[in-house]
Amino acid sequence: MRLLLLCLTASLFLTGCRQEIKIDYVAEKTGSFSKAAISGPHPKATEVGLEVLKNGGNAIDAAVAMQFAMAVVYPRAGNIGGGGFLVYRDKDGNTDALDYRERAPAAASRDMYLDEEGDVIPGLSTRGHLAVGVPGTVAGIEAMHKKYGSKPWAELVAPAIKLAQTGYRISQAEVNRLKRYHTDFKAFNTTTPFSDSTMVEGQLLKQLNLAGTLTRIKEKGKAGFYQGKTAELFVEEMKSGGGLITKKDLADYEVSWRTPIRKEYKEYSILSMPPSSSGGVALAQMVEMLEPFPLSDLGFQSTASAQLTVEVMRRAYADRAEYLGDSDYYHVPIDSLLNDDYLAGRMADYRPDSAGSSDFIGAGLATIRESYETTHISIIDAEGNAVSITTTLNGNFGSKVMVDGAGFFLNNEMDDFSAKPGVPNMFGLVGKEANAIHPGKRMLSSMTPTIVEKDGEIFMVLGAPGGSTIITAVLQTFLNVVEYGMPLADAVNAPRFHHQWLPDVIVHEKAALGNGVKEELIEMGYTLREVNSMAVIKALQRLPDGTLVAAADERNADDDVAGY
Ligand code: GLY
Repeated sequence: MRLLLLCLTASLFLTGCRQEIKIDYVAEKTGSFSKAAISGPHPKATEVGLEVLKNGGNAIDAAVAMQFAMAVVYPRAGNIGGGGFLVYRDKDGNTDALDYRERAPAAASRDMYLDEEGDVIPGLSTRGHLAVGVPGTVAGIEAMHKKYGSKPWAELVAPAIKLAQTGYRISQAEVNRLKRYHTDFKAFNTTTPFSDSTMVEGQLLKQLNLAGTLTRIKEKGKAGFYQGKTAELFVEEMKSGGGLITKKDLADYEVSWRTPIRKEYKEYSILSMPPSSSGGVALAQMVEMLEPFPLSDLGFQSTASAQLTVEVMRRAYADRAEYLGDSDYYHVPIDSLLNDDYLAGRMADYRPDSAGSSDFIGAGLATIRESYETTHISIIDAEGNAVSITTTLNGNFGSKVMVDGAGFFLNNEMDDFSAKPGVPNMFGLVGKEANAIHPGKRMLSSMTPTIVEKDGEIFMVLGAPGGSTIITAVLQTFLNVVEYGMPLADAVNAPRFHHQWLPDVIVHEKAALGNGVKEELIEMGYTLREVNSMAVIKALQRLPDGTLVAAADERNADDDVAGY
């Protein structure tokens, strides 16, 4: 018995009994804090962010340190080989937005994923070297630090280097995930990432090549990524797998500072991301279309409120497909899309007793084959500065290509372009000219980093990974709080549904639309499909007495909150 107990209690060494190994963190799902709070995707990353905040760093400092830490401890989506978006509101109410989305390389062309017959070649934009867009993450992190950071750069990169050098203990879920992608890793890399097939729960995962790259970034800032040794390794990797990205593409990468989308909804003011994300425009359109209706009287996921919300989603995603793309390359008519009269007109044909209809474009393939991998952090610091950042490689581990010798995964973000009008991408989203491929252009995103104000103060900070379901998850979480009166954790964890115009299907989690609502929707003419996973919200709420409530989503075991 004693021996058994010894074996069961935490020995990290082989003792003659089975090696007992444990992960050294626990994810906290909710918390209330008086000064500062974080909601993020992994306890090791929130630990890093919390330390920065406690040492007097501001929300941007914490976000800088966390993003690098996430590239180490959350490699399926945390990244330096991808891109992201920041929505920022400082303690005085000044707002800003940073677009550090990937860009198409100079050699990219409109039909690069089509065969001779003009059909999309399956897999070309989702896996392997051709799927990779020029990463923006390191340039983005440096830009936000230069404009708003307060702590020295090197101090903020250091925790990630330490995590990569000394390692962190992986959970069983991480072991399973690394094993699940092993075949892909092998197929798209000369040196297979995480090739150790004996990997077990609690094993220390060290990433020495990644530590080397992070050290170059620590010493040289973005030049440690876009130039010098990292750039050389990157371009070698591209050449070895038929990728397009050159040294010039890397050296030419620029971020864009943008003005956040702002939309009033009752006594709330919603700030979110403008193009090259569709998130802010679609969210603003949806709340404007919903505002005239008595949502709280209709009740949470009643047949009436669900049907209304679905019809609003349908209209917003139809506009997304037609009009939205990188506004640096295509005129996106944002003012018209957000015009109150236009949006009132959009609902003129809404009928509360029957299903609307999407124009069908021969797509309908939209099984969402990839998992919903992107990631998000929400931070409020002790001064009241707020950060909402969503960052991604697109799919789980992006293109599955790791830069040999540099230790980081590359995105498969090129799939977010419209490879061919009307043909769905891996999220089932269709697009047209607005989102066609063009050298230098950013692919359209659904990422929706959002900050909500009430009475001139911060009210909520939220966002999520989840591909096309991000925008509707942010909408529903916001409505759960402000219309259905839910405490934040309940709002985050409530079951959700989603409609994206095409395919003309309501996808929903198992527990959503219960009590006969599904049946009534089918009766009205809707098609429903149950899915296992949806967007994973990370949210903060400031209560009237100043208490900061943090909630992490139960949908991801590692989602974690921290604060003080
Ligand atoms: N890659 C997912 C998105 O940006 O929407």
